[in-house]
Amino acid sequence: MSLGLGILGCGSVFAGPYGGMIERLRDRVHVAAVYDVDERKRRGAAAHYDVDPELAGPGAVIEDDGVDLVLVLTSMNEHGPLAREGLEAGKHVLVEKPLATSLEEAAELVASARRGPGLLVCAPHIVLSPTFRAVHEAVRGGAVGRLLTARARYGWAGPWWGEWFYRPGGGSLFDLGVYNVTSLCALLGPARRVTAMVGTAIPERVVNGRRIRVEADDNAHVLLDFGDSRFAVVTTGFTLQKYRSPAIEVYGDEGTIQLLGDDWAPDGWELWRNDEGAWYVHPESDPQWQWTDGLRHLVDCVEAGRPTVTRPEHAYHALEIMLAAQAAGRDGAARTIESGFPELVYGETRAEAEAAHRAHDRRVHHGL
Ligand SMILES: NC(=O)c1ccc[n+]([C@@H]2O[C@H](COP(=O)([O-])OP(=O)(O)OC[C@H]3O[C@@H](n4cnc5c(N)ncnc54)[C@H](O)[C@@H]3O)[C@@H](O)[C@H]2O)c1
Repeated sequence: MSLGLGILGCGSVFAGPYGGMIERLRDRVHVAAVYDVDERKRRGAAAHYDVDPELAGPGAVIEDDGVDLVLVLTSMNEHGPLAREGLEAGKHVLVEKPLATSLEEAAELVASARRGPGLLVCAPHIVLSPTFRAVHEAVRGGAVGRLLTARARYGWAGPWWGEWFYRPGGGSLFDLGVYNVTSLCALLGPARRVTAMVGTAIPERVVNGRRIRVEADDNAHVLLDFGDSRFAVVTTGFTLQKYRSPAIEVYGDEGTIQLLGDDWAPDGWELWRNDEGAWYVHPESDPQWQWTDGLRHLVDCVEAGRPTVTRPEHAYHALEIMLAAQAAGRDGAARTIESGFPELVYGETRAEAEAAHRAHDRRVHHGL
C-alpha cells in the first residue's frame, strides 16, 4: 500500500531534491497533503500533486487521515515544534537539519521517538550513502588502525534565497557544519569536548534581491575532542567559494582515509595503508545517490516495521556540539559534551537493528 506523505514547507528543497526522491519512490509513496505559510508556494505544490490548496495550517496536514509520514522541510526554527506535533499525532516524521534549534526541543523529539509509534529520521542522511558506509566499514575493520586525528570541510558562498538562513536559528554551522559534525562523530564516536571560533565575516548580504544585516554565523572552525588526545576540526562557512580538497580526512596510526567530494555528495574515497605503502582509490560506487535518501530509508523501515539505522540521538549529539561551538565562539571557553549516541549498525534485519538499540539503551547518557 502506498504511504501518504504530508509536506510542511514547499520551498527549494521540496521543489527540487525531495520532489525528485518522491518521484523515484512513486510506487511506494504519494503526496497526500501540503502546507506552506507562503500561499504562492502552497498553491503551486498543491496544484502539482493535485491535493487541497486550502489547508489552514501545519496541523491540518499532520491530522489528515491520509498522511502516514510527515516531511518537515521548513526553515530551521520551525523544525522542532512541527516534528514534535507530527510524532505526537502518531505519524512517522522526517525532519531536515538540524532536528531543532534548542536542546530542549531536541530532547523532546528524541523522547517522543522512543515512545513511538512513529519513527523519526533526522537529516543529514549522509551515513546512508554506500560510499560513507564503505568508509565506515573500513575504519571499523581497522584499515587505518586507531583513529588519532581528523578534519572535515564543507562550505560555499551562501544562499541567496531565504533570509532565515542569516537570522538567529540559521547560520552556516546549522546549515553546513552539521554534515561534517555528523560524519566525524559517526566515524570517531561521541565527542567529549568542544571549542570553536564562530563568527560573521560578511555582515551584510543580498537575499532575494534585498540587502539585509546578517545575524547568524557564516564562518566557523570547530575543534572536537574525542578523548585520549584524539581530536578533529570542522571548517565550515558561507565563506568558501570553491575548493578541491577531501571532505573528510581521517588519520589512524596505520593509515589514512579520505572521503572525496562533499559529505552530502560523496565522490569516492581513498585509503593509504603504511604496511602496503600505497593509496587505494575507490571511485564513487553510486553516483546516483541522493542526499534526500533518508526518505527512502524511512519508507523502507516503515514498510518493514523495523527501527531506523540513523538515530535521533546522533542528531541530538550533533546539535549539542553546534550549540556548544556557538557558545564557545562567544566567550572562547571549551564546553563538555554530555550526550552520546549509539554506534551505527547497518543491520538490514529487524533483529540486528533492535539488538543495536538495546545495547545503546544500556549505556545511554542522562536520560536521553
Ligand atoms: N537548500 C538546500 O540546498 C538544502 C539542502 C539540504 C537541506 N536543506 C534544509 O531544508 C530546509 C528547507 O530549506 P530550503 O532551502 O527549502 O528553504 P526555503 O526557504 O526555500 O523553504 C522553506 C519553506 O518553509 C516555509 N515555512 C516556514 N515556516 C513554515 C511553517 N510553519 N509551516 C509551513 N511552511 C513554513 C517557508 O515559507 C518556505 O517556503 C532547511 O531546514 C534547510 O536546512 C536545504
